[in-house]
Amino acid sequence: MQHYDGLARAAAACLAEKGHATILAIESSCDETAVAVVRDGRQALSSVLHTQVALHAPYGGVVPEIASRKHVESIDPLVAQALADAGLSLGQVDAVAVTQGPGLVGALLVGVSYAKALAFQLGLPLVPVHHIEGHVSANYIAHPDLAPPFLCLVASGGHSHLLLVRDYGAYQLLGQTQDDAAGEAFDKSARALGLGYPGGPLLDALAEQGDPRALPLPRPNPAGKYDYSFSGLKTALVNSVHRLQQSGRPVPAADIAASFRQAVVDTLVDRALRAAQDTRTHTLALAGGVAANSLLRRQMTEQAEACGIRCLLPPPALCTDNAAMIGSAAFYRLMAGQTADLSLNADPSLPLPGLG
Ligand code: KG4
Ligand code: ZN
Repeated sequence: MQHYDGLARAAAACLAEKGHATILAIESSCDETAVAVVRDGRQALSSVLHTQVALHAPYGGVVPEIASRKHVESIDPLVAQALADAGLSLGQVDAVAVTQGPGLVGALLVGVSYAKALAFQLGLPLVPVHHIEGHVSANYIAHPDLAPPFLCLVASGGHSHLLLVRDYGAYQLLGQTQDDAAGEAFDKSARALGLGYPGGPLLDALAEQGDPRALPLPRPNPAGKYDYSFSGLKTALVNSVHRLQQSGRPVPAADIAASFRQAVVDTLVDRALRAAQDTRTHTLALAGGVAANSLLRRQMTEQAEACGIRCLLPPPALCTDNAAMIGSAAFYRLMAGQTADLSLNADPSLPLPGLG
């Protein structure tokens, strides 16, 4: 152990001095097992994943025990594939990165244990990454010229955060959801409409065919100027679906989906642009699974441009969970000397580091 600590610390110092690193990154916080090889925080040499969507679909949500077992099966072949796709051998990797949290503890543990074993075997630095910092960092891969400061709206299945990214790894939390995350509200509303799992993309597709003015929905207005609230919207949708069902009338699912999506997107856009203007930040980046939403992408781009704000959208595959984003975040942590020893543990409610 001591031998490893010395080796890894020396290697980390050497990489930080050179300012270069090729990182093998692992993400297993929920229902995707993902592995990537990332060079210097900006270039994904490879990025592969195994999605468990079909496995969890019959249950209408992620079953933690099933997720952990599948991660165990998938991780080793994915590491081999990521290395092969990058044209590298394990010996050419400089560091190992892994999502430490937040997420499902059993799922996180698979990635963390694997990364620790690999780092120990190779004598390489081990870099723990916060999942949300990973989502933010997807933008460093998608937009190689992007540098802090910028504003980032992270909207995923578990989080809706409005962050001012002051520097690499340094954040100010401007606002967050007071109840459901945006993705959670999409998923639960999709379930009420009988759309299946995961509901966000299905509701998004259906909404394209509906009238967003059909169902009048409130625009939630929580006390915090940049905070979000989505559970009231979700309840309003569920109640109107139930009322229609009970009265035997047809449920105009596309219209309801379009009205719900419009209300969520109006709120996300309004708060983010208000924050950008108040903080005089000229760049706004989107991140997280909900950033794949087609209306959010269109509306945020249009309205940001009208206010003279540059709106950055990672491609959808970099919005949803992936390991390239973890490799990017890890690069900046590694350059700042922030590595872990082998006592690293998964933390399902890990707080975002660098909040100030
Ligand atoms: O970032 P992500 O892959 O995982 C988490 O960290 O949670 O986000 C997944 C969430 C799910 O709630 C999913 O329904 C939502 O992102 N999502 C979408 C779309 N694509 C994914 N929500 C709305 N519209 C989409 N196109
Ligand atoms: Zn995520």
